[in-house]
Amino acid sequence: MIEESVIRTVIERTDIVRLIGEYVQLKRRGGRLIGLCPFHREKTPSFSVNAERGAFYCFGCHEGGSAVDFLMKLENLSFPEAIERLAERLGIEVVHTNGYAAEKRVTAKSRERSYLDAMKTAQDYFVSSFYLDIGSECRSYAAKRGITDAMVKSFELGYSPESWDGIVECLRKHGQSLEDSRELGLVASRDSGGFYARFRNRLMFPVHNVKGEIIAFGGRILDKSETAKYINSPESPIYTKGEHLYGLYQAKMHITREHCAILVEGNVDVVMMHAFGFCHTVASMGTALTPKQAALLYRHTKRVYLMYDGDNAGRKAMYRALGILLEPGFEGLYAVELPKDDDPDSYLRTYGAEGMSQLIENAKPLGMWCVQKKCTDIMALPPELRKSGFGELSELLHEFPDKLAQRHYLSEAARFLGQDERRLAVELGMNIQTEGAVSKVPAEQNIECNQYDKIEWDVVHLVLTSDKRFESFMELQGIELIQEPALRALLLEYAEVLDKSNSWDILNSLGENSRKLYEKVICSAPDVPEDELDKWYSGALAGLTRKWAAREHQQLGFSIAEAVKRNDMQSAAALIEKDRRFIEMMQQSSKERQYCWQHEG
Ligand code: CTP
Ligand code: MN
Repeated sequence: MIEESVIRTVIERTDIVRLIGEYVQLKRRGGRLIGLCPFHREKTPSFSVNAERGAFYCFGCHEGGSAVDFLMKLENLSFPEAIERLAERLGIEVVHTNGYAAEKRVTAKSRERSYLDAMKTAQDYFVSSFYLDIGSECRSYAAKRGITDAMVKSFELGYSPESWDGIVECLRKHGQSLEDSRELGLVASRDSGGFYARFRNRLMFPVHNVKGEIIAFGGRILDKSETAKYINSPESPIYTKGEHLYGLYQAKMHITREHCAILVEGNVDVVMMHAFGFCHTVASMGTALTPKQAALLYRHTKRVYLMYDGDNAGRKAMYRALGILLEPGFEGLYAVELPKDDDPDSYLRTYGAEGMSQLIENAKPLGMWCVQKKCTDIMALPPELRKSGFGELSELLHEFPDKLAQRHYLSEAARFLGQDERRLAVELGMNIQTEGAVSKVPAEQNIECNQYDKIEWDVVHLVLTSDKRFESFMELQGIELIQEPALRALLLEYAEVLDKSNSWDILNSLGENSRKLYEKVICSAPDVPEDELDKWYSGALAGLTRKWAAREHQQLGFSIAEAVKRNDMQSAAALIEKDRRFIEMMQQSSKERQYCWQHEG
């Protein structure tokens, strides 16, 4: 807790015009100070500052408030954070009400300050080296990559000289602790004692926290040699990997104004995107996007465009980012798809800002994009190699925390793969339970498919995997053909549910036993080549029809015998007439069944 009196002093002493002036170019117009609003995109100024009242207001987007509100909104700070920041500017020491914790905080703060100070010293060294003669190769490398002077300035790019001890000397001269510098990864210690430079002959990208303090470096090699492309700062007391986004400090104002951010992979990509006017771009710095980074981004915007490299690795990283970005609850997530051999940097150099805008306009919802890509990947494989792809698809679909979205994308995937969605759901292990549904299929039976009724099972399998087949099967009273009571019960329940619910809820609406049986049936497919299924199916139906007719014929035989015994010749004649139809049916279906009915019992 910050002491009340400190808060009051900070608020009183803060000059709102100066504070806002650091972010917005203010012009005097009559009695007012106006500028372009940092909270929304506009071409004519509707943002005004009232110095007397210590307030700001935008007539366009209606953001308004005090200096503290301004800082909180723009920098996404909490109230105490904003007060601390303002106090720092004014040189006021922040007194906390809780004595012991406050004391610890002060020492921690001063430790942090000395680490940051060492980083600043290193940064000055890298920047001045960039402009010296020794930096000429680095400057021409930057120029060759299309990195403009303005971008060098804005991102504070620098050069780490070839020298093994230049930075060591510099840090020593400025009174920085070399032990701290080693912790920060600026120098490394020699076995023989002493220190040497970790970054040598590299283009230096400082990593800023949101406040603009330098907390880490990434050093890119200038040529294509065999050593690592990047050397990065290790974790340190002021830097935890995966908790920061490269370029956020430079991008955050633009992100606020644009109401969205573009997320790319590489440092160079960020710099080039900014150079071409896409200043709301940040990078996850090579590592897979982390939940912390997603949460950090979420503090600044609710909409993100994901644009990773067009290669396989980039695409995989996008699949993985999906689940992580879904977690904080972004309102809009989009995939910007680059051609296979491009990254944002190369794409900009070929197609310019215009082409990039086009690409971003064509962005697809990220979830949809991931599912479609995954399905396309699967279809590109020969069937026998698709198993792992299905596993990945299942993982992808399980990333959606929202069941409704999960189902939506499952049905999308089914459409894409040309598969029945209920069947796909079972294959992907995606049936979601709902309570309340009562099974027609009895629980106590452990129903298994045996050799004898294999054809019944296979027919039911085919009926349940195609709505068209199901419809005509029911119309023909196909249930009569099925002997196994559990299968009949399943078909009846399925028909009821199909009438009541939309196709998505079918699995859920089945009672538990029915669902179990359904799964068994769906999973045991007939052993017939794909392109002969229809032929096999009509054959199988014919066979079942013959069996059924034979059963009816046998029943009638008994009834006829009974009638004759009773001397009721009229009934007997009617029954014989009826029997003739069954006999015809048997003969007819005997011919049709041949295809699959070799092993009739
Ligand atoms: N990265 C890293 N170590 C590597 C390679 C990459 O830390 N050996 C990180 C860097 O932060 C880099 C990001 O991963 O910016 C993306 O990698 P890449 O696209 O290869 O680097 P770019 O910065 O885009 O560089 P360039 O376009 O010049 O290849
Ligand atoms: Mn790259």
